[in-house]
Amino acid sequence: MSNPSLLILPGDGIGPEVMAEVTRIIDWFGAKRGIAFDVSEDLVGGCAYDKHGTPLHDDTMAKALEVDAVLLGAVGGPKYDKLDFSVKPERGLLRLRKEMDLFSNLRPAQCFDALADFSSLKKDVVAGLDIMIVRELTSGVYFGEPRGIFKEGNERVGINTQRYTESEIARVARSAFELARKRNNKLCSMEKANVMESGILWRDVVTEVHEAEYSDVELTHMYADAGAMQLTRWPKQFDVIVTDNLFGDMLSDLAAMLTGSLGMLPSASLGAPTENGRPKALYEPVHGSAPDIAGQGKANPIACILSFAMALRYSFDMGDEATRVEKAVEAVLADGKRTADLLGEEGVTPVSTSEMGDAILAALDASL
Ligand code: IPM
Ligand code: MG
Repeated sequence: MSNPSLLILPGDGIGPEVMAEVTRIIDWFGAKRGIAFDVSEDLVGGCAYDKHGTPLHDDTMAKALEVDAVLLGAVGGPKYDKLDFSVKPERGLLRLRKEMDLFSNLRPAQCFDALADFSSLKKDVVAGLDIMIVRELTSGVYFGEPRGIFKEGNERVGINTQRYTESEIARVARSAFELARKRNNKLCSMEKANVMESGILWRDVVTEVHEAEYSDVELTHMYADAGAMQLTRWPKQFDVIVTDNLFGDMLSDLAAMLTGSLGMLPSASLGAPTENGRPKALYEPVHGSAPDIAGQGKANPIACILSFAMALRYSFDMGDEATRVEKAVEAVLADGKRTADLLGEEGVTPVSTSEMGDAILAALDASL
């Protein structure tokens, strides 16, 4: 059998710096664990626009559809703010999600013990937090038609459309129920069924899928605004949350900040299983391209490294190796190593991006 294949798209801003540390971890697996990947690299976002005049070249799109998993760094930057909407760096990422049909976006919010003090919430509210937001990623208001800015009489009107089919809701619900079964068997579905027809349908379909296939999982429903409130009040009441594209975008940023730093959080975007049984998949850190610190060796590579760990778990069925990476990260944090985004404790000097990589590699060595 051939090696599993990875397409690396470092992107813009701090993307290339944090991805460089992931590449070292991939090499470590080849050298020390006999797990080799076929790795290729390409451009996405602003850097692709600079070279090709488009944030995602068709050849890159074709490659992404062929490989077992895509690892993405980050896209965007102030340099591209004035570009036409159709060629903005973010469009590259949205095209990957849509054409790979990555409908299930897994965004864990986990609070590492060593970092519980970094949250803006009280320590006992977040210590030990481990929840998973499943965000629908290929439909809803992000893609619904009609959309655009039109002329109506003598003023302009901006239109976006929230649209969900039953099958789109059912497939993301199934992926969330499956995850809940592997965790604490609890799922909370969030929508606005009190004001939106798409929310009423969402609640109906999730309930139907539950009754027909997953009645062993404990299911609750919440309006998304109340969900935001409950997430800040007592986030540990949740296990898995499933929600639509836009609510998921907002709630996952909120949940991320509960853990103290966006620099820590990975994500996986999964599609349906392909012929070889592996889902179409893209892994990326939740943080953005952080142009203010790009090129300075300050960025925290942990979210990107944990995204690779998610690839090991969800694409390659190597849960034990994923845990090995996660434990190495935990050990390094417990040892007091901090990148600049995690400072606050007295007397701690920050480590650089590559020093954090060094420390994680040493912890991996120690795990053998
Ligand atoms: C995210 C981001 C993206 C989104 C942007 C960059 C298009 O905020 O992945 O959460 O809105 O989905
Ligand atoms: Mg977002």
